[in-house]
Amino acid sequence: MFDENVYRERRQVLRRQMGSGLLLFPGNGESPMNYPANPYPFRQDSSFLYYFGVDKPGFVGLIDVDEDRDYLYGDDFDIDDIIWMGPQPSVRELAEGVGIQSTGDNSQLAERLFAAVKAGRRVHFLPPYRMEEQVRIAEWLGLSIAAVTRHASESLVRAVVAQRSIKSEAEIREIEKALDISSSIYQTVMTMTKPGVNEGEVTGALLGVVGRANSYVSFPTILSVHGETLHNHFHGNEMREGDLLVVDSGAESPEHYASDITRTFPVGGGFTPIQRRVYEIVLRAQETAIQAMRPGVRFLEVHLAAAREIAAGLKDVGLMKGDVDEAVQAGAHALFFPHGLGHMLGLDVHDMENLGENLVGYDETISRSRQFGLSALRMARELYPGFVVTVEPGIYFIPALIDQWRREGMHSDFIDYQALETFRDFGGIRIEDDVLVTADGYRVLGPGIPKSVKDIEAGMKE
Ligand code: GLY
Ligand code: MN
Ligand code: MN
Repeated sequence: MFDENVYRERRQVLRRQMGSGLLLFPGNGESPMNYPANPYPFRQDSSFLYYFGVDKPGFVGLIDVDEDRDYLYGDDFDIDDIIWMGPQPSVRELAEGVGIQSTGDNSQLAERLFAAVKAGRRVHFLPPYRMEEQVRIAEWLGLSIAAVTRHASESLVRAVVAQRSIKSEAEIREIEKALDISSSIYQTVMTMTKPGVNEGEVTGALLGVVGRANSYVSFPTILSVHGETLHNHFHGNEMREGDLLVVDSGAESPEHYASDITRTFPVGGGFTPIQRRVYEIVLRAQETAIQAMRPGVRFLEVHLAAAREIAAGLKDVGLMKGDVDEAVQAGAHALFFPHGLGHMLGLDVHDMENLGENLVGYDETISRSRQFGLSALRMARELYPGFVVTVEPGIYFIPALIDQWRREGMHSDFIDYQALETFRDFGGIRIEDDVLVTADGYRVLGPGIPKSVKDIEAGMKE
């Protein structure tokens, strides 16, 4: 937990920004997997964590802007709970830890919200992403369940996004703690990526690294020799000499800040000449993109700089042709790079995505493209100091997509479909780092996880 003043100040900033009304932040509850006493691992709501810090299920935060007072609501544990769960702090103790003096139980919260609605006061809340929250908010505020999302407060979303987008030094330290775990993950993965080993063994070892750090993954691990499937969660393949293993994984810091790193390894420890060529295109695209990052630059431009490197590199290899700028403008490179360059990172791995991708990654000066590939870009807006953004270009050979584009004659001026035939089994390559925008440029966060061909091949030998 951060110092109580951190939470107090965060709420103070938000109060000033909102000006009036009640700001309702329901924390998450336990969510059952197959029966109520067997829940999914508990993960607190990130905005609740940000403003109220309490990392336990069953609490609700309320900020009364007009009264200038913050409340924490929850039911105290009784002896039956304590027998099963061990000693528990009281609601009052938890509240004091985050700088709150006013507490109440769940029935008092319901009464307070009922009275507020009756008095015609505005109750702001963020769009809920769990049905349980939708039902609770509907009951508290006398709305139909279907109406809850419509009544979510855009002004609160905008204020929260503005605040959470700029990471403090303490938050950056948290992300770097998560990156230290990532560093250990990749050291382990590198030495296990050998012919005859099953992907499941590597995934299990990765989870072991995370567990030994008393952490939890920040998203389900992507680890596959079929890295051309962008989010491949199947880990049942035996790795063979000549495969490329894509590992996209992350852990959480003690305060639940995320890391998000991707590396691609040649099974057997050495890239083949063509793997190396394609790998170096992706690496060049990533480094070019990172070096373009500074305040005032739009991330859309950074994405396009990476796309141009990819198109130029694939032209050298003989898979693309024609003018590189024209190819990128037409979107032809998206056959190989069909996703966006990156996203914000913070308490969520796709930070604040539950608040609306366009409200996080776009602003009034820039709207989302409909072009295939570019339409998947989550983050396009101008960069500011304190933003943390992932930079994760890739090149993928997706047989179904190649076949579809070829059938439809898509971008045949820019793509050599004949030359592509020998790449159908190539798989995919992605390289991802987490980058802080500083006052005058950027800083790649974390301890430096091997990514050059030389460092990867050396690391895999150890
Ligand atoms: N966690 C998937 C990604 O890199 O965005
Ligand atoms: Mn990732
Ligand atoms: Mn990512």
